[in-house]
Amino acid sequence: MIYNFDELIDRSHSNSVKYDLRQHFFGTDQVIPLWVADMDFATPSCIRKAVIERAEHEIYGYSIKPQGYFKSIKNWLKIRHNWQIPENSICFSPGVVPGLAVSILAFTNPGDKIIVQTPVYFPFFTSILDNEREMIINPLKETEGYYQMDLDDLRSKIDSKTKMILLSSPHNPVGRVWKKEELEELVQICIENKILIISDEIHADLVYKSHQHLPIASLSEEAKQQTITFMAPTKTFNMAGLSTSFAIIENQEIRDKYNYALNAFHLNNGNLFGNVATEAAYNLGANWLDQMLDYTSRNIDFAQEYLATNLPQIKFVKPEGTYLLWINFKSLQLEDKALTEFLIHKARIGLNAGTVFGENGSGFMRMNVACPRSLLEKALNQLNVVIKELVG
Ligand SMILES: Cc1ncc(COP(=O)(O)O)c(C=O)c1O
Repeated sequence: MIYNFDELIDRSHSNSVKYDLRQHFFGTDQVIPLWVADMDFATPSCIRKAVIERAEHEIYGYSIKPQGYFKSIKNWLKIRHNWQIPENSICFSPGVVPGLAVSILAFTNPGDKIIVQTPVYFPFFTSILDNEREMIINPLKETEGYYQMDLDDLRSKIDSKTKMILLSSPHNPVGRVWKKEELEELVQICIENKILIISDEIHADLVYKSHQHLPIASLSEEAKQQTITFMAPTKTFNMAGLSTSFAIIENQEIRDKYNYALNAFHLNNGNLFGNVATEAAYNLGANWLDQMLDYTSRNIDFAQEYLATNLPQIKFVKPEGTYLLWINFKSLQLEDKALTEFLIHKARIGLNAGTVFGENGSGFMRMNVACPRSLLEKALNQLNVVIKELVG
């Protein structure tokens, strides 16, 4: 089956965060929304069909996860990521971010230190700070838009209070798919210092050709024993509204502690549509995903060529994974606030401000290109016109 990713689907007035909160976040609904990380593509029909079928049952009572749910995850991880896991290591989470918060509560105490590698997905910050833990910032090193971990800096910041790292892999927003050597060194540091690795791998399936996502827990027996990996079909298959995800925890002691904390909040049930959609996605969605990645990869090329031709001073390094561009606007020489205002009110595009991802995000913006190419082109045209006006 060939899917039509060019189709423009009207998402306004569908209670979509990306569309219907534009007024709230940008002060106007007259921006092309290229911010929140969901896609403007139809959720695959195999998932919609499974959900509709279940919705037609007369009763939506409490439900359990059928064996097929666990099997579908296990098979997916084996086929897509060459990662063999036992089914009993799969633990539920009503979302990756809630799972991060549960882990923080279960495995650290107030005042403990937790590492983040900025610029990074901003709910990492609130998960740490709102739970009264201390955040240790280990900034990524940037060389002409290409980011790497700074593991010497990390080593220098670890002390006896450092208990956990929140890893973004592949990395949002810089789009790195971490290499084996980088992850191995990170694991080594965490093992030496008894730091629990919380690996947010929600973007694991969104990786482009010539790169391979490596689940950090799959690197070694030691890595497996010291890691909680969060994954989900929600980002991969555009079903984030179903609030469903899972953790892989092979260490039984850690798994029991995680489940205990999850149950303490009565968060373990989930919703029945999330279960049905997960199973359908992993059993039937591979072909859709491959075509979708091909489309977003061409969107990324399109944006890069467009900028190189029309606005060569605005640059980004092609993401190795994710459908997010981390664009450097420093050449415009605008303060961050002025840059944001300029993009909203002049270019009329809604992006995520780089500073939200950390101080070193200054001068950058995150653009989501999981949308029909015509919409992306329209946004780039609007940008082109106003930047030409600005720089004369
Ligand atoms: C790195 C990362 N983690 C987690 C999430 C959200 O996960 P969830 O909706 O399952 O809480 C996102 C969404 O953009 C993300 O980019």
